Amino acid sequence: TLDAGAVAGVRRVKNVIRLARRVMESPHTLLIAQGAEIFADQVGIPLIDNNELKTPELIKQWQTYQTNPPPLPSAEYIPPHCDTVGCVAVDCHGNIAAGTSTGGMDFKPVGRVGDSPIIGAGVYADNLFGGASATGWGESITRVVLAKFAVDSLQGNRDPHPAARDAIEMLARRVGGTGGIILADRL
Ligand code: GLY
Repeated sequence: TLDAGAVAGVRRVKNVIRLARRVMESPHTLLIAQGAEIFADQVGIPLIDNNELKTPELIKQWQTYQTNPPPLPSAEYIPPHCDTVGCVAVDCHGNIAAGTSTGGMDFKPVGRVGDSPIIGAGVYADNLFGGASATGWGESITRVVLAKFAVDSLQGNRDPHPAARDAIEMLARRVGGTGGIILADRL
C-alpha cells in the first residue's frame, strides 16, 4: 500500500523492525536517533543498554580499526562484516511487505546512515508490482535508489530473477556499487 516506516541512528532498541513498524503506523515515515528512541518509549518499545548490542568479536575488531582503519568501501573492497538482514513477504491476499535491518558498515562515523532505512533505497514494497530488500555498500545503493528501481522493473509482469540481476548490474555499472537484493513479484 506504499505505507512505510523507518528508524535510523538508534542505539538502545533491540528489535528495530518492530519500532519501524510503529513509525509506519504513525503519521511519519522516518525517525532518527534520540527522536526515534523517545518515540519508542512513547509506544512501549523497551529501551535497552547499548552494551547489550556489542559482541566481544566486534569490540575487538573496532579496537583493531582504531590503529588500522579499514579502507572505505568500494567496488574493490567490501568490508568483512555485513550484518544486514532483509525479507520480503507476499500474503495470499496480495499484500506485500519488505523489511531491512542493519548495524551499518564497519567503523562508520557517528551519524552515518546507509541505505537500509531509506525507503526506496534499502527497502520498498508496492502491492502493484512487488517488494525488495537490499544489502551491501549503502552509499552506492542509496545513490541509485536500488529497491525502487528493482520493484519498478517488475512492471509488465517481468520475472523477478532477471530483474534482480539487472538491478545489481545497474548498481555496479552506474556507481561502481556492490550489493545483493531480495526481490519478490506480486501474486
Ligand atoms: N547496507 C547497509 C549499510 O550500508 O549500512
